[in-house]
Amino acid sequence: MAIPGIEKEVARRRTFAIISHPDAGKTTLTEKLLLYGGAIHLAGAVKAKKNQKNTTSDWMELEKQRGISISTSVLQFDYGGNQINLLDTPGHKDFSEDTYRTLTAADAAVMLIDAAKGVEPQTRKLFEVCRMRGLPIFTFINKLDRPSREPLDLIDELEKVLGIRSTPLAWPIGTGDRFRGIYDRISNEVLFFESDRANQSGRLEPKKISANDPDFWKILGGAKNDLDEAKELYETFRSENELLEFAGDPFDHAQVLAGQLTPVFFGSAMNNFGVERFLQRFIELAPTPVPRIAVYPPAKGESEPEKKPVEPTSDQFSGFFFKIQANMDPAHRDRVAFMRVCSGHFERNMEVTHTRLEKKVKLSKPLTFFAQERVIVDDAWPGDIVGMLDTTGELRIGDTVCTTSGGAKAFEYQGVPRFSPEHFAQMIIRDPMKRKQLQKGLEQLAEEGVVQIYRQRDLGDKDPILGAVGALQFEVLQHRLQGEYGVDTKIEKLNFIHCRWVVGEGLNPDEFDRREDTRCLLDRDGLPVILFKSDWGLRWATENHKNLTFQTTAPEVRGTKKKG
Ligand code: G4P
Repeated sequence: MAIPGIEKEVARRRTFAIISHPDAGKTTLTEKLLLYGGAIHLAGAVKAKKNQKNTTSDWMELEKQRGISISTSVLQFDYGGNQINLLDTPGHKDFSEDTYRTLTAADAAVMLIDAAKGVEPQTRKLFEVCRMRGLPIFTFINKLDRPSREPLDLIDELEKVLGIRSTPLAWPIGTGDRFRGIYDRISNEVLFFESDRANQSGRLEPKKISANDPDFWKILGGAKNDLDEAKELYETFRSENELLEFAGDPFDHAQVLAGQLTPVFFGSAMNNFGVERFLQRFIELAPTPVPRIAVYPPAKGESEPEKKPVEPTSDQFSGFFFKIQANMDPAHRDRVAFMRVCSGHFERNMEVTHTRLEKKVKLSKPLTFFAQERVIVDDAWPGDIVGMLDTTGELRIGDTVCTTSGGAKAFEYQGVPRFSPEHFAQMIIRDPMKRKQLQKGLEQLAEEGVVQIYRQRDLGDKDPILGAVGALQFEVLQHRLQGEYGVDTKIEKLNFIHCRWVVGEGLNPDEFDRREDTRCLLDRDGLPVILFKSDWGLRWATENHKNLTFQTTAPEVRGTKKKG
């Protein structure tokens, strides 16, 4: 029998993350979205992060920063009866693997682009992760009130640089000083832009007019009522829209949901313009929590594990952990694991099977975070994120928990990928007596994804090589090792630039170790990885080892009971 109310709860949930390059306006947009959700008390949390941004260079502020990014791990708010779960993808300047992994818990992504800058490097990296997962991507082009690039040019760039087709559902009229508003291509309305100071914090409804109104063009003259300018803007608006009609990609919801087509919106987050319309369209078009692929142990007589999707509305509760945060409360030295609910109804104190550890665990301390406060949650539905106090320290990123009552079989969700780092270093301990603490600290912080640890083949756990996707992660690591484990360290950067997991038969590690520009190491599961100092080295390896593949994400290790 279906769980009462589950269909409705699933249908009203949207779980997404915003991806962007620093300064595109993510904090500002988040604040405005929260305003619409009436979650003012949470908006304060975002503000804190924003102020804090001024202190990112001051690493003594790290503790504070961490507190804030925790409080914003997920922002939940209600809009028009929908429950919105906005996942925070940490990483402004401190871009880290955590950012990537958070995307595995999302059902959609909002790609925020600065209209003056277009697609920037960090957006591109995050976009690629979304693409790999087939996540639907919604594009919001921001800061139209400032001098911007040509809108058609920006659309073109999405295709050229990111390789995704786009379907503008809104279109700007003018930009910068001449920004007059946005045309909603679905409702055929024009929303007029007013740079009203009051509007920046309030919820003013923009003035609107039907695009069929014969007098609509006159309003484009702006406050000065300049009819020549109005005519010019109107002509551009008409010709661009004609072009979009004929040459643009038509809207196709199935393609949007498959992540092959991105609906594009325009606006100004700072002026709170275009944001509410965007939110409404997003809710209409973004997916509700989607079925996820579960991996079951091989059936009798079979060698391959069985894979099949689990419906969110299933009776069987399931969830997976995508983020771990140790020492969240330094006074208690605790560890919180963040779980995305995937199916069924989560209830506090429920007993579930932890698939990897093959044992039953009780989920007795589910938490949600409001600013710095922890609140116990009693229940949650698919799409929701719950923080779990991990008192035993056994939970690991990628772990699945599910109910197995009534003969339901335990399964695991397809793993949370580990991405190949781009920065490498060796850590030198200043006080050798603290080697044990260092090892413990490194292990725990690697579990959180602060860094990845690679062992040198002949040295065991001694002098590992560290990898990170963002360079600042090493500073975060050092700071936390000092603050939380009392270990003073020095970092020596290594000049490798690529890391690839090697899959296939016939790898000869010595061949790579003999060369000056490559190294063969082992990851935490004992899988071989090769580090490269140049693009050229990577090309050489790929071309000369046709039997091997060099992957940017770690292959999944399954079927073995892994260390907790
Ligand atoms: P981020 O989280 O993506 O890093 O960006 P954030 O929201 O902090 O915005 C970066 C800067 O861009 C901020 O200015 C912000 O006010 C501005 N901004 C965001 N949206 C818009 C917009 O629609 N139009 C304009 N003109 N500016 C926008 P700042 O000077 O760094 O900070 P502040 O002094 O304004 O707080």
